[in-house]
Amino acid sequence: MSGIKAHFTPPRAAGIPQPPENVKRIKRRIAVMSGKGGVGKTTVSVNIAAELAKRGYSVGILDTDLTGPNVPKALGLIDVPIYATNEGIIPAEGPLKMKVMSLGLMVRDGDPVIWRGPLKAKAIQEFVENVNWGDLDYLVVDLPPGTGDEPLSVMQLIPLHGVVLVTTPQEVALMDVRRALHMVRKMEYKPLGIVENMSYFVCPGGEKVRIFGEGGGRKLAEEENVPFLGEIPIDPKVVEFMDRGLPIVLADPENIVSKAFKEIVDRIEEQLIEAQ
Ligand SMILES: Nc1ncnc2c1ncn2[C@@H]1O[C@H](COP(=O)(O)OP(=O)(O)OP(=O)(O)O)[C@@H](O)[C@H]1O
Ligand SMILES: [Mg+2]
Repeated sequence: MSGIKAHFTPPRAAGIPQPPENVKRIKRRIAVMSGKGGVGKTTVSVNIAAELAKRGYSVGILDTDLTGPNVPKALGLIDVPIYATNEGIIPAEGPLKMKVMSLGLMVRDGDPVIWRGPLKAKAIQEFVENVNWGDLDYLVVDLPPGTGDEPLSVMQLIPLHGVVLVTTPQEVALMDVRRALHMVRKMEYKPLGIVENMSYFVCPGGEKVRIFGEGGGRKLAEEENVPFLGEIPIDPKVVEFMDRGLPIVLADPENIVSKAFKEIVDRIEEQLIEAQ
């Protein structure tokens, strides 16, 4: 895909080092962040990545959640070996040739991953510097939940062109995502906007039920003056396909969830083109 012009350098906070050489070869680097765990970061990451791959881009996805890496499972990559070569660590290949790198690919399913602080930072750095992505149009980074040291180290190591923030409609989630947004701003990265996940459930009769409250994500986006990227409904198929290792945008493109992801990716692309 040749739609992306040149490699452009995102605005960088003072004191953040230059990106490693392998990272420089990726044209657009975006991260998916949330203030709270379990709101759908991984779901959003893999579906954004898959939607971009569907559009013909070369896409990589980096799972940086060391304690709960589940991107590989969500992409059907269980027990797929990864190789360290003289040219670096070669990512696994997921659907639509997406390049997938995760600590989850280096441990057996069910093995506990217990990392102490310094080891964590080191593991993240090794990851970032040694993965051989080749030339990519997009890298989607699934960040660990929260606003602690782990997401911070990743965001410092990989200069980002933008950050997508995921929330659910509940007050607590909104409060936490506001904190995450402030962290993004402090790092002088571009917030691409807010995705509200699990916004509503469509009953068999067609009625929309807003189980967790109404309009919180949109209101927060307005208050914080960032784009509202869209609402994603609750659909059991999301879980079903995720467990089968297929993002819903590939498994069921006409589903309302898949349509919501298409619009979200349109809005992300628009903003990245503007910034170019
Ligand atoms: N819109 C949705 N409809 C139905 N189920 C969903 C939806 N979004 C996410 N889920 C399910 O909710 C669970 C949590 O989602 P996910 O793993 O994406 O969250 P996360 O923010 O990455 O969590 P963690 O903080 O543990 O990494 C998963 O089982 C996922 O399949
Ligand atoms: Mg996750």
